[in-house]
Amino acid sequence: MNNSFYSFSENDRKLFEIFFSDNPEATEIRTAMQSFTRLMAYYKCAMMELETKFNVLNEEFSLRHDRTPISAIKTRLKKLDSIIRKLSKKDIPLSLNSLEDNLNDIAGIRIICSFERDVYMLADALLSQDDITLIETKDYIKSPKPNGYRSLHLIVSVPIFLLHEKRSMRVEIQLRTIAMDSWAALEHQLKYKKDINFTEDMANDLYLCSQLSAELDKRMDSLREKVNI
Ligand code: GTP
Ligand code: MG
Repeated sequence: MNNSFYSFSENDRKLFEIFFSDNPEATEIRTAMQSFTRLMAYYKCAMMELETKFNVLNEEFSLRHDRTPISAIKTRLKKLDSIIRKLSKKDIPLSLNSLEDNLNDIAGIRIICSFERDVYMLADALLSQDDITLIETKDYIKSPKPNGYRSLHLIVSVPIFLLHEKRSMRVEIQLRTIAMDSWAALEHQLKYKKDINFTEDMANDLYLCSQLSAELDKRMDSLREKVNI
């Protein structure tokens, strides 16, 4: 991950001029860009808070059980062009306030777990912390998407403590096993090339792969239970 909070490209600057400023005066645009950069910094701080919380849970679990439930953590901030695309698609006014009020996935953190049971154990442990507020849960493990996508999605609000204020920021958390993650990564690669015609047969095959991966998770989890770790 990049060290700076958010750096504007030339393209971002143009997008700002087009979408976020009623007044095309340079100073207006500069002020709006500074506000946007500050907001992105807050989102990055919220991701850092959550990343630390998951690292702490991982550490404590490994002390108790001699294995780590988290195999990887990935964080990402939504890019300006995706933010604009999503606001436009949802017919939401293009302003910084509406962005914060209406988008829950500006900041995203993905937790890749060893076993399916770890997904729920970590989600429960996080949600029992008294500074975390659950806003929404989508359990695509219990109820996979029609294409076969599986993961547990949580939208939470987490406080960040700034110099003179406390601010609550919303973050999207995706928890999934290694098998769920590899299916999602490959599905993304297969589907998101613009010029590929994805046939119904291919979609059925992909769905079958997700069932195989769910079976793999189930078997691995029952092995984990047998060796009692
Ligand atoms: P978005 O507008 O896409 O954010 O939809 P949503 O608000 O209904 O969110 P949802 O919880 O369904 O999915 C959000 C995120 O989950 C996406 O940005 C992806 O990272 C991931 N995701 C959801 N569905 C799929 C899928 O079918 N395939 C893959 N690879 N990822 C998915
Ligand atoms: Mg999203």
